[in-house]
Amino acid sequence: MDTPDVLAWRDGRIEALDQTVLPYQVRTLSIATVDELIDAITRLAIRGAPLLGAAGALGVALAVRQGERERWDAARLAAEIDRIAAARPTAVNLAREVRAVAAHLRTEAGAARGEAASIDAAAVEAAAVGVLAEAAEVSRRLSVRGAAFLRGACGADREGRGDRRLRVHTHCNTGALACLGWGTALGVIRALHEEGVLDHVIVDETRPLLQGARLTCWELGRLGIEHRLICDGAGPFLISQGLVDAVVVGADRIAANGDVANKIGTYSLALAAHRAGIPFVVAAPESTIDPDTPDGAAIPIELRAEEEVTGTAAPAGTRAVNFAFDVTPAELITVIVTQDRVVKPQPF
Ligand code: MRU
Repeated sequence: MDTPDVLAWRDGRIEALDQTVLPYQVRTLSIATVDELIDAITRLAIRGAPLLGAAGALGVALAVRQGERERWDAARLAAEIDRIAAARPTAVNLAREVRAVAAHLRTEAGAARGEAASIDAAAVEAAAVGVLAEAAEVSRRLSVRGAAFLRGACGADREGRGDRRLRVHTHCNTGALACLGWGTALGVIRALHEEGVLDHVIVDETRPLLQGARLTCWELGRLGIEHRLICDGAGPFLISQGLVDAVVVGADRIAANGDVANKIGTYSLALAAHRAGIPFVVAAPESTIDPDTPDGAAIPIELRAEEEVTGTAAPAGTRAVNFAFDVTPAELITVIVTQDRVVKPQPF
């Protein structure tokens, strides 16, 4: 799937695949205002840490366009940009890319006078579009690096093709839909497939919003990659039964001490992998490492609506607790793979 299918900047609007209706419908949203963007992000129509970063970057360009139409002053523009950065709290990429593009906002002379009118919109748009291109390129590099690590760690080298094909377990959705390009964990899996050393993928359904069942199975199907869908609770059992060679997941934020926040349900896979003695690999761009967050306890964990869990199954009035992410301690992680390095989690 090409980058423009998932997220693009066209004629001053953001075009994004609506991930809430996949795989039943392939529908593109055309987003013209900050409110529409925040709505798409909070409903998870746009989701996944690197994609949130790219959407946040485009969001700054969108806010500039809207500000021109509606004659916002500098304070209003800054407030709208802050709202985009805060739309989801856990994935560090969102606020990071918003800030990076916002740094291109004002010409020096205008900034000195505090004028919104001095904004160099073309420079902002170029910076924002550059974030998309870079995300796709980064994902390709980290996919190949992660696959090389797993081939070695699991004894499935290129020459051994056919002798030892890997069964790789993953959680949530970390492919093109979440990242552009190849993805992170799913990119590593795609690279293993292209290298002929993948047997099949075990996909957690990823309750409550089913990013694994709806999105990862859709992506794997389009790529022609063998996969088996399981209930989230079944993951540790499959690992304990020797049915998994390695677990590969993405990350929403990597703290300075190497603790990793990722989709709720990741921690239980890490515990099971540790006990079974199989690799537990986190694949993420360098931009997901947050040196300003000292450890997992300091990562803000998004608490979402109870109705996402109760749905239509629970009796009316049932209360729920719906943390969207959990934290896997650094000591349970075999390595973190980025586009630049494969490292044991350690102080970054
Ligand atoms: O709530 P989501 O769907 O945005 O959560 C996504 C995940 O947890 C992914 O695993 C993470 O963002 C890494 S994506 C490469």
